[in-house]
Amino acid sequence: MILVTGGAGYIGSHVVLELNKTGKEVIVLDNLSRGHKELAFGDVFEEGDLQNFSFIDTVFKKYNIEAVVHFAASSLVGESMTSPEDYYYNNLFGSLNLLRAMRINDVNRIVFSSTAAVYGEPEHVPVSESAELVPTNVYGETKLFIETMLERYSNAYGLDSIAFRYFNAAGADADRRTGEDHIPETHLIPIILDVALGKRENITVFGNDYTTPDGTCIRDYIHVTDLASAHVLGLEKLLSGQRGKSSYNLGNGKGYSVLQIIESVREVTQRIIPVVEGKRRQGDPAVLVASSAKAESQLGWVQKHTDIKEIVSTAWNWHQRRFSK
Ligand code: UFG
Repeated sequence: MILVTGGAGYIGSHVVLELNKTGKEVIVLDNLSRGHKELAFGDVFEEGDLQNFSFIDTVFKKYNIEAVVHFAASSLVGESMTSPEDYYYNNLFGSLNLLRAMRINDVNRIVFSSTAAVYGEPEHVPVSESAELVPTNVYGETKLFIETMLERYSNAYGLDSIAFRYFNAAGADADRRTGEDHIPETHLIPIILDVALGKRENITVFGNDYTTPDGTCIRDYIHVTDLASAHVLGLEKLLSGQRGKSSYNLGNGKGYSVLQIIESVREVTQRIIPVVEGKRRQGDPAVLVASSAKAESQLGWVQKHTDIKEIVSTAWNWHQRRFSK
């Protein structure tokens, strides 16, 4: 069986749907602090917290687990700066408990959900895995430290791992079974979709004086179902014997500015989206675009949903289903 921590969250739930297609049995472990019970699509659901070592240990003893996919974490950049202790505690301590339970129970394979935030403000784009790792926020720091833990565990205990560094996960399951539902919502596309639905009055653009063609930040939006397929490939690679720790970027390779995303949402939804110009948000790099060549060549990863309008359309279909009253 495959244990998916945080499997009731946005990215985790999409990965579970992809795993279901492979015929593998899935245990979703989630504390439901940010995840949603109805979005846990595994064969078994275990509600609990990674802070609780004896709970995790029991889960490992109860099931025959061959590998872990680890999402459970606090993941808001802004919040990580105002509540660093929560991030150190939840992400670092939770992951340490998980790795310890894996070691004790002789489970040696893990796919880890890392982030582009490990690169901070990169000097060159597209960003490759060899770029310097200098996170500029606590969230990125915790993910980078967990990547280091994976390396140390590999050397000391023979743990095999793959860390995926996501750029901007976006879009939703084509069949609208799951999608983004964060409380609070801080991400660009769902906030604009809230405006399209009439749930917010406008979208504030955080800064229009960046050194980009239209002055707004450029990001690499990668369809969450494509992210999910990479996890299945990573897992297969580990199960077929890939040793040690590897990291792979996952991005679309194309950059869109905040204003271009707003325009795409206008085109897809055919709704009026009022825009307010706001100040820069602290810690936002001007441009983040990935090179995913390594994942493509080494894992055979092929993206299927690279068109920004398709990405926004799937998000809009989900958003209407989930949030229209
Ligand atoms: N933005 C706005 N207005 C909003 C919300 C966002 O202008 O109301 C802008 C941001 O300034 C940024 C872009 O839209 O330029 C995208 O912002 P998101 O909050 O959607 O995403 P981030 O790029 O900040 O964060 C993503 C992931 C994080 C990851 C980070 C790496 O969600 O998990 O990339 O830098 F850590």
